[in-house]
Parts: sequence; structure tokens; C-alpha cells
Amino acid sequence: MKNKYLVTAALPYANGYLHLGHIAGAYLPADIYVRFKRLNNEDIIFICGSDEHGTAIEISAMKEKVTPKEIIDRFHFANKEAFEKIGIAFDIYSRTSNEIHHKTSQDFFLNLYDKGILLQKTEKQLYSEKDKRFLADRFVEGTCPICGYEEARGDQCESCGSNLSPLELKNPKSKISGDTPVIKESKNFYFPLEKFQPKLEAWLKTKTNWKSNVKNYCEGWFKTGLKDRAITRDLDWGVKVPLKDYDGKVIYVWFEAPIGYISATKELFIERNIPDKWKEYWFGKDVSMIHFIGKDNIIFHALVFPAMLMAHGEFILPENVPANEFLNLEGGKLSKSKGHGILVKDIVKDFNPDVVRYTLASNLPENKDADFSWDDFQTKNNNELAAILGNFINRTTVFAKTKFDNKIPERNTNSDEIFDIIKNQSKVVAECMDNYRFRDAVNETMNALRAANKYFNDSEPWKVIKEDKEKCANIINNCLQICYSAAVMISPILPYTSEKILKVLNADKNNFSWDKIGEINLLSGTELGDNEILFPQLEIKKEEPKEEVKIPEEDMIDIDYFRKIKLRTAKVIECEAVPKSKKLLKLQLQVGERKKQIVAGIAEHYKPEDMVGKTIVIVDNLKKTKLMGIESEGMLLAAKKDGKLALVLPEKEIPDDGDVS
Ligand code: MF3
Ligand code: ZN
Repeated sequence: MKNKYLVTAALPYANGYLHLGHIAGAYLPADIYVRFKRLNNEDIIFICGSDEHGTAIEISAMKEKVTPKEIIDRFHFANKEAFEKIGIAFDIYSRTSNEIHHKTSQDFFLNLYDKGILLQKTEKQLYSEKDKRFLADRFVEGTCPICGYEEARGDQCESCGSNLSPLELKNPKSKISGDTPVIKESKNFYFPLEKFQPKLEAWLKTKTNWKSNVKNYCEGWFKTGLKDRAITRDLDWGVKVPLKDYDGKVIYVWFEAPIGYISATKELFIERNIPDKWKEYWFGKDVSMIHFIGKDNIIFHALVFPAMLMAHGEFILPENVPANEFLNLEGGKLSKSKGHGILVKDIVKDFNPDVVRYTLASNLPENKDADFSWDDFQTKNNNELAAILGNFINRTTVFAKTKFDNKIPERNTNSDEIFDIIKNQSKVVAECMDNYRFRDAVNETMNALRAANKYFNDSEPWKVIKEDKEKCANIINNCLQICYSAAVMISPILPYTSEKILKVLNADKNNFSWDKIGEINLLSGTELGDNEILFPQLEIKKEEPKEEVKIPEEDMIDIDYFRKIKLRTAKVIECEAVPKSKKLLKLQLQVGERKKQIVAGIAEHYKPEDMVGKTIVIVDNLKKTKLMGIESEGMLLAAKKDGKLALVLPEKEIPDDGDVS
């Protein structure tokens, strides 16, 4: 019997903000699972953190002309906060830039090296004399040998989609300096994944309960045949290869990032002052390790990392890898690179995080891609959360308030059929949870609440009270007990709402556990807390931003009028998409010594990342206004015609508070 759980959720890259696709892919199912297990008093730890190495982060830093450290700090803390706000309750949110992680990864690497498991290969690579470094994939640009596109990247041509290697590019140029690189040999380490295929296949055969999408994916890889993988690279940013003669090389990010799960576990128990305890989880045969991930990470969690763990020895292997498919937004893919995803940090500002959790959880991409739409969000709030859950809690507590002096009325029967219904339903939900079927778990939870509402309706307390107050007291006591059961049952999915219900019931969280569902937990005579509407009706306006005002000819102005308009240059320091809006971008500007925020309708023409660093022209003395609820303190100038739009930019470098006249 396994009796401990080690749950991990993919470490998000610290070079972008989390969006709903991330949450639905890995973090929400993981969090629901962990909360459920905690309610069952299981010994469980929940591990996550930022993935802070890799070329993408180095490139972002280069583009913004800042250090990689600046990038990872910005996104690490923002993402950590976003997770907290949406109620994802990790035991630790660590980061791979921590020293303990560098040490742990280097030790892991050396363990394999000392055992003679790693291969070494010498290969030709592009090297820039000027930059004094090798130019890995994304650090070179050149002409695509296939379609002739002149700005193809070293790893891929964005025009024709071909996968490339830097050596295939014609006229390669360094993206750092524009230098023309030379070919130089470089020695790197490989992990012998091919050799591990038989072991992996045998191991995966024993995993009969894995999701079919994950198994199929692995079988696909087995059919093609696993290939050895480079695990060191000629880069600066990352975990240094801990060997002499390997200066300027780092461990490949996909080799060290999953080791981050181990480092983060160590860190967790250092924090808890039991520094050796991590071993119980990573070496314990009684531990179920579960990796929650999105489907793009399957190969690393179901094949590469397990092979690394096998090669190292001692460590346990994952018990399951319940990977999800992707979440689309109103039809198109939610992706942070495309910049039109809904960001977690934004949606939790405007909406109850539990409604977000519920909408995602009831429609998780468990077996196929799923879609998020604002219509569905509104429907889930109004027709399910408010109409079923909110309604039951509200009608029960309002009844107790008005007819029983705001107290839990006395009961004089022991039980009622409704308790059995709810208890049984809790078993159905538990079965779903245990098998990673969270959509079903949500649905079955709602079925329990539907049964509760039916009980209220069928019992007709509003009639009974007129004839038999004692009988009515029983009904309302039952309903309040069911409210408590509901608070327990929904808590993995709707943790904030659960707390609110407990407050209304004036119950505390001691003894809060799954087996309390369908039992009598509340004491008669207890005074109830203040009632609150759990899910106010939502009406999400699909209002598109207003077109810029066109000035009719008869509105010609004189020069003095024009002089009142303060046009200034401003530098864009940050820029992000506005959720729910196809057109709006939110820009943070530097205007000389001042900072200001504007919202501009240019999202269909410019990606946020294209805007950062540009010096634009703004109307500086425009009165503050709000667009889609976001404050805007100015307006940028752009030329527009026939659906085309171009920014008005100064023709030369000019300080970012230059007067334009
Ligand atoms: N950063 C990766 C991604 O977002 C996931 C890394 S998971 C880990 O796709 F196992 F490597 F940590
Ligand atoms: Zn091409």
C-alpha cells in the first residue's frame, strides 16, 4: 500500500505570465487532486516553481536589453502571486536559479558521468568571434534553405515552418551582434536515451491505468525509436557543467528543470526544519509520485525524466503522468507567445477566482482540447454556481435567519435519506478524483447539490412551518448540515467559496475532512454568521473598444487650439494584451521622469513584445479615462486606413519626453 504522495506540476518558464491554458492544462487539476487528498488526511506534498533557464529567457533579456535575472525575477514573482490568487496551493513554489537547484542538478549530472553513462560527441557549431560564443539555435538568423525567407531562426523557419539546424541557414548572422559566425567544433554530452527504450517500454506496460492520450503518445515515440539527447549546450545562462574543460557550457534546460522537483522538495523541508525528510519522498517505495503537465511535456515526464531517474538509481519513478490536452480561447489557441491569452493575474482582478476555477474545471481538456469562452463563463456563474450552489446555501440560511432567529434550529431525528444520498455522492466524487477525472468530479459534486435543492423543494419548509414548527426545524437543521457537507465537498474545486460558507455557518475548519460529508456536524443553537450572496449575477458585456474619433472637416481648429494639445514622445517599457479584448493593448510608458499607463486599440496590428522598447508619440494632456475598466492616461498616435495601421514614430533617436509640434 502506498501511503505518501509526491505531486508535481510542471515548472512554468519565468519569461511570460501565466494564462488560463496553463491553469487548465496542469495546475488546476493538480490543485484539486492535492486538496482532495489533504481532505482525506493523506500525507501529500505539492511541488512547483519557476523554470528559469533556457534560450528563450536569454533571448527575452537580449530583446529588452536587460539581464536574464531581471526577466526571471519579474515573472517568477508575478506568477507566484497569480497562483496564490487563483488558489493553487503549492507547498513550495521554488525556482531553478536557486543555488540548491544548481548543486542538485550538477550532482545528478556527475552521478551519471561517474557511472560512465553519458556519451560525448564532437560536433560542428556556429561560433561568433565577435560575441566570443557559440550561437545556439535561436541566437542565429539567416536565409531559410527551403523557402528563402531571410529571417529564419536557427531552429525553425517561421515562414515555411521547417525545422532547421543553425548550420543549414544561408548567410547566418549572430542575433547578438550581427556578426557572421564561423564553424567551430564543440564537445557536448548526450544522454543515451536509445539504450533505455526497452526498460521504459517494460515499465510503461505496467502502467495500465494511465490515460490513453499519454500512453498513445509514448507508444508513438517507441515506434519511431528513442534517440540519444544532447544534455549540455554552449550557452551562458543556465546550470554550469561541473567539469573542467567545459567552460561556457551549461546543462540543457530540459535535463535540469525536472530535477527542480527534487531541489524544491529539499528546499521545502529545509524551510520546515527537517532537512533530511525529502528523502522519504524521493526514495520511499511507499510514495506515489504524480506529475501534472500539459501534453507538450509528455515526452520529458513519461520518458526522458524516468530514464534519467532509472540511470541514477535510488529515486522512485512516477506512478502516473495525467497530462492534459490544450485549452483554446473562443476557438483559437491560448498561448502566451501569441499574446492573446487571458492572463491569470488579470482575470482574478476582475472576477471571483472560484468562478474561473469552476469554469475551467468543469471543462478541462482531459481527453481532447477544450474551449474557454466568456459566454460559458457567464453561464457557469449564473446557471450553475448561483442557481444551484449559491441558491441552496442562500435559501437555507435565509430561512434559518428569518424563521429561527438566525440560529441552527434543534433537531430531534437522527437521520434522513438525504444524508445517504449526499454520502453516496461523495463516494462517486472520490472515485472520479482518484482517477483524475476532474470534469466528472465537478459534475457529480453539482449533482449532490441538485439533490440538496430537491430535498429543500420536496420538504416544503415554507408550508411545514405553518403547521409543525418542530418538523420544520428538522428540515432546516438537515439543510444546514448539508450546507456544511457542501462546504467540504466543493472545497477542492471552490476553496474560497467553501471558506465563505463556513463563515456563514459559523463553523471552523477543525475536523474539516472528506468523511464528514453526509454526517451531522453542526451544533443546534449555534448562531449563524452574516449571509452573503456567493455568486452575484454576471453580465459580461461584449463591448468592443470605441473607434478613434474622426474630426469632421467643419471642425477645423486654429493654431492656438492645437497648441493646447501636448504631444510628446514616450518610451514603451511594458506592454500586454487586455483580456477579453481583441483590439486593446495596455502600455506602460516612460515620459521623461514620469511613468504613465495608456490603453490603445492596436492589438490587431502589434504584438505586445513588438511595442516594448519603441519610442512613440502620445497626447500627453488627455484627461484620464477607462477602457474596459482599465485606466488610460493618454493616447498614442497612429495612422489608420483600410484596416491598416502604422504607429507615428520619431524619425531619429530623441529623449522620451521630446515635445512634438
Ligand atoms: N517550463 C516547461 C514548460 O513550461 C515545463 C518544465 S517541467 C519540468 O513547458 F519538469 F521540466 F520542470
Ligand atoms: Zn522557410
